[in-house]
Amino acid sequence: MATRSSVWTVIVAAGSGTRFGGAKQYLELAGIRVVDRSVAVAGQVSDGVVVVVPASDVSVESARLAADSVVAGGPSRAASVRNGLTAVPPDAAIICVHDAARPLAGADVYQRVINEVRSGAAGAVPVVPVTDTIRRVDGGVVDRSALQAVQTPQAFQGELLRAAHDDAGDATDDASLVEAAGFSVVAVQGHSRNIKITQPDDLAAAEAWLAT
Ligand code: CTP
Ligand code: MG
Repeated sequence: MATRSSVWTVIVAAGSGTRFGGAKQYLELAGIRVVDRSVAVAGQVSDGVVVVVPASDVSVESARLAADSVVAGGPSRAASVRNGLTAVPPDAAIICVHDAARPLAGADVYQRVINEVRSGAAGAVPVVPVTDTIRRVDGGVVDRSALQAVQTPQAFQGELLRAAHDDAGDATDDASLVEAAGFSVVAVQGHSRNIKITQPDDLAAAEAWLAT
């Protein structure tokens, strides 16, 4: 049973890895699957963990993942989060959402976002500075100092995250939906090692980070 102060984490792992060229969430990173790494860290800081996987994998992954619940994903990341929320106890006070594809997120970054929400923020996201020079597709350089890159895990007041998702919008992250619903989200320090496995090269980069 969830308590009033409980923290639950939804790990979204229901993507198809189009840019990677396959289901990256199941690949082994230094001997442990990407999704299992993400679930293990979430388990250290959460009272419960829900993992969202492709519908065809629910049965096999229910037996394999160290999760409280395994549910089927939807056609978009936001739809997958919504499906995950159905398996989170209604009284969970704080809900974190994390991309399975970020297997190097540490317990420290979870604690930072959770602490902000415990202190009253509607939501909190980890950010890192943008280091590349950014150029607009239609020409012209964008002032990098005005930009920051957003990572997961992201933490929210449970009822606000649910309300934002009830509007059934689509966005690449949950903070955008919560802001679109009129709530403000604070930024905490992310980490450069918390990369998202997106392209094949990213797996080698993650292996290199693990070795440091
Ligand atoms: N995700 C999901 N359900 C979807 C789409 C994405 O659960 N319908 C998850 C992915 O499994 C991943 C996270 O959301 O852990 C971030 O998405 P992304 O890195 O874009 O992964 P994919 O969508 O799998 O990759 P691509 O966009 O290249 O197809
Ligand atoms: Mg995607």
